Amino acid sequence: MRGKIFGKPIITQEEMRKRIKTLGQQITTDYTDKNLLMVGVLKGAFAFFSDLTRAVRLPLHVDFLIVSRSGAKGKSTRSVKIISDIAKDLSGQDVLLVEDIVDSGATLTFLKKKMMARKPRSIKCCTLLDKPRRREVDVTIDYVGFVIPDQYVVGYGLDFENKYRNLPYIAVLDKMGERTKKT
Ligand code: IMP
Ligand code: MG
Repeated sequence: MRGKIFGKPIITQEEMRKRIKTLGQQITTDYTDKNLLMVGVLKGAFAFFSDLTRAVRLPLHVDFLIVSRSGAKGKSTRSVKIISDIAKDLSGQDVLLVEDIVDSGATLTFLKKKMMARKPRSIKCCTLLDKPRRREVDVTIDYVGFVIPDQYVVGYGLDFENKYRNLPYIAVLDKMGERTKKT
């Protein structure tokens, strides 16, 4: 990567900080007296997950899933595969899946089904970003950071061809795969 690589944010670091604080407070309230296991879906959720866990004031547990998708891009029929898994037995655990973004809804639907089969006490989902206009599979999301329009975004864990994950904010890519500045 050469030159100026950081574009103008559509969600700033300050907006992110405030929203995560609020989400953390909500989760703290909802999971008091529960057995919270926060599961980060990698790679995309790594930055959000790290900040969100530290905004929750409870003695929670953390774990991670690594997923990959194959097949034609943008199709809900693309198959989702777990590359690295968490414990199989989730009995007595209140699982909170933490995603970077929900697009077609296929990944989250797949993961919820997989986790449900392991009989947790409860399962809920939290996503930093939600693109509802792209939804192909109906899936309930319990906590949403930001609802965004149908645009390809990068930063704060989200990538384009494995780049831009380290941007400290969310920026938009244009059709050429370049970041565009918000005017
Ligand atoms: P879904 O299964 O179609 O909901 O897609 C979810 C996954 O696609 C996310 O976890 C991301 O890895 C990826 N994805 C969807 N939209 C974007 C985007 O705008 N930027 C980066 N990754 C995205
Ligand atoms: Mg993801």
